[in-house]
Amino acid sequence: MRFPQDFVWGAATSAYQIEGAAHEDGRGPSVWDTFSRTPGKVHGGDTGDVASGHYHRLEEDLDLMASLALRSYRFSLSWSRVLPEGTGQINQAGLDFYRRLVEGLRERGIRPMATLFHWDLPQALQDKGGWENRDCAHWFADYAKVVFDELNIRDWLTINEPKTVVEAGYQMGIHAPGVTDPARSFVVLHHLHLAHGLAAAALHATHPGRRIGPALNLAPVYPADDTDRAREQARLHDGLENRIYLDPIFNGRYPADMLEWIGGRSRMPEVIEEGDLVTISEPIDLLGVQYYNPKYVNGEGERVFKHPVAQAQWLEIHPDGLYDVLVRLKRDYREVPLVITENGLPTLDEPDEDGRVRDDGRLGFYRDHLAALHRAIAEGVRVEGYHAWSLLDNFEWAEGYSQRFGLVHVDYATQRRTPKDSALWYRDVIRSGRLD
Ligand code: FCB
Repeated sequence: MRFPQDFVWGAATSAYQIEGAAHEDGRGPSVWDTFSRTPGKVHGGDTGDVASGHYHRLEEDLDLMASLALRSYRFSLSWSRVLPEGTGQINQAGLDFYRRLVEGLRERGIRPMATLFHWDLPQALQDKGGWENRDCAHWFADYAKVVFDELNIRDWLTINEPKTVVEAGYQMGIHAPGVTDPARSFVVLHHLHLAHGLAAAALHATHPGRRIGPALNLAPVYPADDTDRAREQARLHDGLENRIYLDPIFNGRYPADMLEWIGGRSRMPEVIEEGDLVTISEPIDLLGVQYYNPKYVNGEGERVFKHPVAQAQWLEIHPDGLYDVLVRLKRDYREVPLVITENGLPTLDEPDEDGRVRDDGRLGFYRDHLAALHRAIAEGVRVEGYHAWSLLDNFEWAEGYSQRFGLVHVDYATQRRTPKDSALWYRDVIRSGRLD
């Protein structure tokens, strides 16, 4: 299986999950600093204070990426490292860190791809209502303009997985800010969409030639059985998993069935102002696709598992789901370049006495997903790149350090990095451009 010559191979991370240095060089606190300090919220009481120590190991990590032959690195900016209060005063030391990162990538021939928001909202803005406050969309756009001007980066992603913010952050309360209120969650959804659109329009107005899009976690939804009820439920859940994120951006409207469903649970339809959908549907230049799992639903609307599940209980392993997502995008939406911005598996493999990390499970997971991706490309879906989640073992949100998604093992006691077998295999795939 040969991949296109110009296919862009990469790996992804996010700021709070790897940087550490949470209280250094002027960084302001984010909602994740607050949340991880709240007793009982994160496994083992872990925090991102030190994380994978990336802030202090920038050069080493850049060399590591080069040694793995990466052509693209997707990372996120810590909003509160750049703007400690979320708005206003710029923290030069924070910007300088990202400047050094971007320069270091360029020197090594690695393409930077920056995410503006990967869940670490400045606490100062949460104190003013966070994403429930419509102003937050404008604070986000103002922050985006600062980094668009200050950082020499062509490719940008706006919001990482708005669905996870809505569901984990505002419905289940297992992510910051820990709210359990569907009514509020859909107001947040609309403001996240608005933030995305405002930032995309700002980039287009000020930096023509650069590219921007959202990073959406999409899940193919299948009826768990052959009944009409299961099919109806699958349609509803497809709305909640995929269509409420895609339709406003691509078509400039929320799906009618979804607005009705949400309207019975939230005042969200009332917060939509005239012109919002025009802003939200600012044409995107690329779509970041994150794929982890499918969702099968039965006639009661419950999730049913049909395939093996990873250490992360939500991660049902079904490589064909990636193919289905990609083909569906081409079929149902306007064509834009697709970039896989995340895909990966946690495993617990540790270095042997000889220092080798034999993570066959992860290696097989990547092989199977890349094969599914190749099949979609061969059938004409325009996918220009792929990013493994993640470059490094890191702080896996509510799971703390108990789940390791890295291609590279991190010994948290020493911060020693060890490329796992999957990383060396991936390097060889990148070098050859083919999958055997
Ligand atoms: C995604 C997140 C990423 C990481 C992976 C495992 O939902 O975007 O930060 O936690 O899951």
